[in-house]
Amino acid sequence: MSARLLEKVRTEIVDAGGFMTFHRYMELVLYEPGLGYYVNGRRKLGADGDFVTAPELSPLFGATLAQWLAPVLRPGGAGILEFGAGSGRLAADVITRLDDLSVAFDHYRILEVSPDLRAQQQALLSARLGAERMMNVAWLDRLPAEPFRGVIVANEVLDAMPVEVFAWRSQAVWQRGVEWVDDTPVFAERPAPAALERAVRALEAQAGPWPEGYVSEWRPALEPWLKAVAEPLESGLVWIADYGFPRRAYYSAERREGTLVGYCRQQMMLDPFARPGLMDLTASVDFTAVAEAATGAGLEVLTYAAQGEFLLGAGLPALFEQWAGSGDDPRRMLELAQQVRMLTLPGEMGERFQIMVLGRDCALPPGTFPDRRERL
Ligand SMILES: C[S@@+](CC[C@H](N)C(=O)[O-])C[C@H]1O[C@@H](n2cnc3c(N)ncnc32)[C@H](O)[C@@H]1O
Repeated sequence: MSARLLEKVRTEIVDAGGFMTFHRYMELVLYEPGLGYYVNGRRKLGADGDFVTAPELSPLFGATLAQWLAPVLRPGGAGILEFGAGSGRLAADVITRLDDLSVAFDHYRILEVSPDLRAQQQALLSARLGAERMMNVAWLDRLPAEPFRGVIVANEVLDAMPVEVFAWRSQAVWQRGVEWVDDTPVFAERPAPAALERAVRALEAQAGPWPEGYVSEWRPALEPWLKAVAEPLESGLVWIADYGFPRRAYYSAERREGTLVGYCRQQMMLDPFARPGLMDLTASVDFTAVAEAATGAGLEVLTYAAQGEFLLGAGLPALFEQWAGSGDDPRRMLELAQQVRMLTLPGEMGERFQIMVLGRDCALPPGTFPDRRERL
């Protein structure tokens, strides 16, 4: 599979005259039908996969989110739309918790670009929810054309969208891409095209000055994605969780090699050309860019919080106590306590992962977590 994918990369490079943008390379190795990392049928998520996401780590994550979102869904006539649902675990945990709380919602819809993951989601949700509950779970190929009320959820989706990679040399912007040398893909550079040059100069003006040879990334899909998501949202929230930073921290002079990494069997790989199609490739999210694109698309930025603080202020401690019970089952209690630590401690997922909530004609549900919008 990897060899076929590499052959596709090589042919495209040759056909294009010797250079492929890194954005195109990332698109191919992650999403090329049948071959790319997210669409080739291999197991990726979970302890026996390549990386573990918060919903894979603990059902407390989805359950906390569900009960925090309940006030938005309660009035009736609202639904949930999840982007990039991975194994389907978050959807199953959210639906189960909403049922426990007797919160009715119109539908749970999933928009997933990978046919392979879509099949995995269908299998997991059928097994967890049963046929009757599955009646209001649906998969979409594109965003709904009709107006939508409710909540849009995207956990670790933005980081999986391809990036342009750039280098800053002699005050000029270079587009990093891929050349084919000695039968392998290697980095190459050419002067940046206008859109990339404009974007990078604006970043340098806000977060620079950068040292010579500074390398980082820019994600062109962010703005169009937020515009598309905002369009059908009549009223409700967009809840985004991912690893990332405010712009000044992301593009600080010290982060001189950017954030692009691979994940394979729970290991971080620094060579983006290693194991094509068999390794996840990802870059952090510029949350200032998310906020700007959201505002440009007519959404309000309601809050920005660290994942740990968000979960602790959104009801996780009470839920833990409820699930851990009276301590009759010490093993279960220890397991849940360990999951809470992983989700919330600053050295684990608590600070590296951020939550941003956007809204249209919708108030933020109650919660006692600190709002960090001033950092953006
Ligand atoms: C890192 S995984 C996260 C999966 C899941 N949300 C979780 O937290 O376990 C990224 C997911 O986003 C999907 N994805 C990437 N780009 C997408 C897009 N533009 N629209 C919808 N899904 C997308 C991938 O196929 C995959 O399911």
